[in-house]
Amino acid sequence: GSYDGLGDVAGKRVLVRSDLNVPLDGGRITDDGRIRASVPTIQALAEAGARVVVTAHLGRPKGAPEEKYSLRPVAGRLGELLGREVAFAEDTVGDSARSTVEGLGDGDVALLENVRFNAGETSKDDAERGAFADELASLADAFVSDGFGVVHRKQASVYDVAQRLPHAMGGLVSTELEVMRRLTEEPERPYVVVLGGSKVSDKLGVIDNLLGKADALLVGGGMLFTFLKAQGHEVGKSLLEEDQLDTCREYLQRAADSGVELLLPTDVVVDDAFPDGERTPQPQVVAADAIPSHALGLDIGPDSAAAFAERIRGARTVFWNGPMGVFETAEFADGTRVVAEALTEVDGLSVVGGGDSAAAVRTLGFDEDAFGHISTGGGASLEYLEGKTLPGIAVLED
Ligand code: 3PG
Repeated sequence: GSYDGLGDVAGKRVLVRSDLNVPLDGGRITDDGRIRASVPTIQALAEAGARVVVTAHLGRPKGAPEEKYSLRPVAGRLGELLGREVAFAEDTVGDSARSTVEGLGDGDVALLENVRFNAGETSKDDAERGAFADELASLADAFVSDGFGVVHRKQASVYDVAQRLPHAMGGLVSTELEVMRRLTEEPERPYVVVLGGSKVSDKLGVIDNLLGKADALLVGGGMLFTFLKAQGHEVGKSLLEEDQLDTCREYLQRAADSGVELLLPTDVVVDDAFPDGERTPQPQVVAADAIPSHALGLDIGPDSAAAFAERIRGARTVFWNGPMGVFETAEFADGTRVVAEALTEVDGLSVVGGGDSAAAVRTLGFDEDAFGHISTGGGASLEYLEGKTLPGIAVLED
């Protein structure tokens, strides 16, 4: 049995870096999209007779084990989806990992505990990361990079390990890259980008880059309030990044100068407090230029959602990253739902990027097949669109 780029893998130990960073509520997986997306590569390797050793992270533990970040629940779900038993190693490169890997037969699959339980994984020090990568590499004969969501991270299990083993790009990473290329190399026009999520500071690079490329940029989510404030409006108790006001003003100016439509909501849904499950939400729709001082913006309003939907439906290429509001609470989910619905009606390429927006479309009950592509990459897809070099890709091409 062979795997693209690696040749015959039968009987070989193949380390696969997947992105299994899924949202958990207690020990319950609330969205298994990333696990499902990781199955085909693991399955193909197992069918080719490899001894598959999967490594992945969950959350951001600080280089030491923490029960709430254990991958154990993920091992169970992965096994169900594969229809094969997945052996779970209690550590990443220690005794449990070694004996688990030694116990694998051809076609068997193991998942190692959270790779970020080791400080070497995310260390900025090349030698420290390298030493940990040596240990990881010693568990395998070859490496497959399949965690698209982490290719923007220069981390041991993504980057350094590829320098230590014969390696190949996994099927998920190549599919994701193909879509990203279609978004950046001569996208069909109109090209509309929808950005949401809480922070402008996470999206600066992307806005900067897309102002010269997209035909329209639609802004929702918590980040919209910094833009409203930059336009001179009061935003009450809404999220605000004071230190980004000048940058937002500059973007508004650049958009105006270059003829790119930077569309902000004209109405927003507010409440007096962030939803916390203790009090019944009291949503109220107000004009975006008349937010009361006691109010907190939690979603885009119905007029804005309709305007966004119209732009989206008229586009031939759409990229959407970041929810429009606090969609986890029903009263503030409409903006996100209307935008998602519009993406399903695009005659062309519609891409949902980002952990949160991907989770949103699934938790809101949309059929995944209705979208052109649902990316597993949050930060990774944004950095690709920023035009940055992704270390986890570059290392495979060297
Ligand atoms: C993600 O959730 O975007 C990826 O799994 C990467 O996680 P990180 O931002 O903690 O590196």
